[in-house]
Amino acid sequence: MQYRRLGRSDIEVSAICLGTMTWGEQNTEEDGFAQMDYALDRGVNFWDAAEMYPVPPRKETYGRTEAIIGNWFAARRKRDKVVLATKVAGPDERLIYIRDGKPRLNKAHIEAALEASLKRLKTDYVDLYQLHWAERGTNAFGRLAYQPPRTDDGTPLEETLAVLGNLVRSGKVRQVGLSNESAWGAMRYLTLADAGRGPRMVSIQNAYSLLNRSFEVGLAEVAHRETCGLLAYSPLGMGMLSGKYMDGEPPGARLTVYKQFKRYRTPAGAAATAAYVKLARDHGLDPAQMALAFINSRPFTTANIIGATTLDQLKANIASIDVKLSDAVLAGIEAIHQQHTYPCP
Ligand SMILES: NC(=O)c1ccc[n+]([C@@H]2O[C@H](COP(=O)([O-])OP(=O)(O)OC[C@H]3O[C@@H](n4cnc5c(N)ncnc54)[C@H](OP(=O)(O)O)[C@@H]3O)[C@@H](O)[C@H]2O)c1
Repeated sequence: MQYRRLGRSDIEVSAICLGTMTWGEQNTEEDGFAQMDYALDRGVNFWDAAEMYPVPPRKETYGRTEAIIGNWFAARRKRDKVVLATKVAGPDERLIYIRDGKPRLNKAHIEAALEASLKRLKTDYVDLYQLHWAERGTNAFGRLAYQPPRTDDGTPLEETLAVLGNLVRSGKVRQVGLSNESAWGAMRYLTLADAGRGPRMVSIQNAYSLLNRSFEVGLAEVAHRETCGLLAYSPLGMGMLSGKYMDGEPPGARLTVYKQFKRYRTPAGAAATAAYVKLARDHGLDPAQMALAFINSRPFTTANIIGATTLDQLKANIASIDVKLSDAVLAGIEAIHQQHTYPCP
């Protein structure tokens, strides 16, 4: 395993981060335990959860993923071996069962969310506490064209950052990070921190894969110059980049079961996937491992958050850390990117 520093903190995280959002929905607690045991044994010390998980989010399963992790901590007594990340949800009209039905990034909501997460996780601290998405209207979850919001009555970023500062001082949170954030939002938070208004964000967890390289446009420079690296999520476009949907719908696979996941299952995504899968096969590579190795090797990547529903997938995905892409493969990827630019933002 390779280890990288989380922002300007003194925390070293594995470059492969264990995604958890299938546990409690597509995966059982037993599956989750097996994944945590295997990952930690392979040196994967960085795990990513969220109060909202598992996905797709439902009232009945809300918090279940964190509960599974908490049960594992209680059973294995290895809390100190793990750099644990989780997230507080922002507003989303579908999440009517979270707090008062309108989750916000203000003092009352963040404090309530963290207390509930700590209880489920059976721990008294979180290593990385992330804002799952912004409270203001901005580009995220597939939007590239910026539209100014009609109203702007969200919690001011200053207030959110001050609340996070209190949590850091209390010892319940070690570091703070962003997710689904734009270049403006990231720079604004970093500038406020540099002005002494709160803790400095150490990471930006955004979607990034061969099907969506939009992070490179504005945020990669922020990540590099501000030492606030990318935690890449959905690195296989929810499984698309493995090539398994090229011949139909494999039974039990995420995009077969959950039709509401549409971000990567598009004609543009399918065309780009076919090109990347062919490139991998032409070079004797596993398509999924090629897609992951590309992310692992980007200079702005702190960690690649892999997802797996089987142990075989987990093994292959962790092993991507040892896959070095040749110049020919990298040139092939760039050629495809020129033709299929941002197929699935
Ligand atoms: N911040 C955010 O808003 C956000 C959003 C999404 C995810 N995340 C984080 O990122 C993590 C990873 O996201 P993700 O699960 O969407 O990642 P992903 O790698 O794009 O998709 C993972 C899914 O693809 C399939 N798969 C994985 N490896 C495979 C392989 N080698 N061959 C064939 N199929 C394979 C599996 O599903 P099937 O077996 O069902 O096909 C697996 O569950 C999450 O657990 C979460 O921690 C964060």
